[in-house]
Amino acid sequence: MNLAEFIDSRREQHLAELTEFLRISSVSAKSEHKPDIERAAHWVADHLRSAGFQTVEVVPTALHPLVYAESLTAPGKPTILFYGHYDVQPAEPLHLWTTPAFEPAVRNGNIYGRGTADDKGQVHIHIKALQSLHDLTGNFPVNVKVLIEGEEEVGSVSLWNFVQQNKEKLKADALVVSDTSMLGKGVPSITYGLRGLNYYQVELTGPARDLHSGVYGGAVPNPLAILSELFAKLHDKNFRVTVPGFYDGVHKLSKTERKALNALPWNRKAFYEAVGAPGYCGEKGFTTVEQLWTRPTLELNGIWGGYQGEGAKTVIPAKAYAKFSTRLVPGQDPKRIARPVEKHVRKILPKTVSCKFDVLSTGKPWSAPYHAPILQRDQAALEKGFKKKAVFIHEGGSIPFVTQMYDTFKVPCVLIGFGLPDENAHAPDEHLYLENYFSGIKAIAHFYQDLATL
Ligand code: BES
Ligand code: MN
Ligand code: MN
Repeated sequence: MNLAEFIDSRREQHLAELTEFLRISSVSAKSEHKPDIERAAHWVADHLRSAGFQTVEVVPTALHPLVYAESLTAPGKPTILFYGHYDVQPAEPLHLWTTPAFEPAVRNGNIYGRGTADDKGQVHIHIKALQSLHDLTGNFPVNVKVLIEGEEEVGSVSLWNFVQQNKEKLKADALVVSDTSMLGKGVPSITYGLRGLNYYQVELTGPARDLHSGVYGGAVPNPLAILSELFAKLHDKNFRVTVPGFYDGVHKLSKTERKALNALPWNRKAFYEAVGAPGYCGEKGFTTVEQLWTRPTLELNGIWGGYQGEGAKTVIPAKAYAKFSTRLVPGQDPKRIARPVEKHVRKILPKTVSCKFDVLSTGKPWSAPYHAPILQRDQAALEKGFKKKAVFIHEGGSIPFVTQMYDTFKVPCVLIGFGLPDENAHAPDEHLYLENYFSGIKAIAHFYQDLATL
């Protein structure tokens, strides 16, 4: 039996095991899920052991454990570091799921459940690809280090400490990550650029306490209204961010790259269907693909305060809150950009409220040359798994670890995504197209095999 046939013969088993992994509600954001996080870490460790790794450890951290495994039994062959995350986003709002988030279900060729696409399904692709190689040959074709963390969805804070303290241990010839998407169905894709992310929270305080809006309304500031005005002022009519200096240093795409990105088989209709809005907007002067992948943005993520319960309550709230973020692109320094953002917010706000401004996390953008030899191997492997030529894309999302590794070790990073842009990552009814899962295992197994001759 050749590699592809062997993997095909295990489809049922692979799917059953993935289902088991998805049942563990490893939500990193909520402390009530701490036991589930622990279970997921141990599940990953156990399955790495079954896959053929002799050294496997669950490493405790200040927050959630990370799983590290290595097999260095291929002397003279390259060493590959594979990174992924076993934690998932909260499943809320629960009532919008067709079937419960942690009871995986197969419908129309997709598997539904929290973590299917982001990122448990994709982590499982690698574990099964490596196991298949080990089962068939008794060894891995290359040296493999595996790092699966439990804090990706909350900013990868502990991971960074681990990297700093284990630089020697994590040394590798290349970093391989599957935590991104394909351009569309049937278009295997290699991602060579990600945006960075800064996350902020503001708290406005007006009156010293909540007030009766009849007794006081008309003569006092309303922090909620002031917060709304603030956010209305952060974009201009061309949908550009109004923070002075926000675009300073932003790299301009070369003509060739601009042409290449806009020539990709990106499907506008599929994009509109995935979004489902009555109309669209975006920074003037750039195509949608450029807006999504190569331009910095400012997004309001949540805004709250005052009364939101049943019926009416006439109140002027004392406080108003918002969470917002900026996506960053090459040329922007996350640490530096936080300052003008805060300055601008404070400048817009009237003296009638006080403001507490917090930067919750910062993360750098990443962009790499896409002609590295390892990417050609990746392209060939994807072609074996999907019977189609892979394209080179950027994506708008952020994976802090990729930038950290790229900056720390200067290693080539290979981002091979098997998700699809409309698979509802972070939203209800998250799912993974099963053909991508199965073809992914084949492609990744071929990839590791081919890397032996890199
Ligand atoms: N897998 C995503 C990142 C991603 C999504 C990359 C889509 C490319 C395309 C990751 O799990 C994620 O959600 N990252 C967060 C950042 C993190 C610091 C919370 C993001 O991008 O918002
Ligand atoms: Mn992810
Ligand atoms: Mn995510």
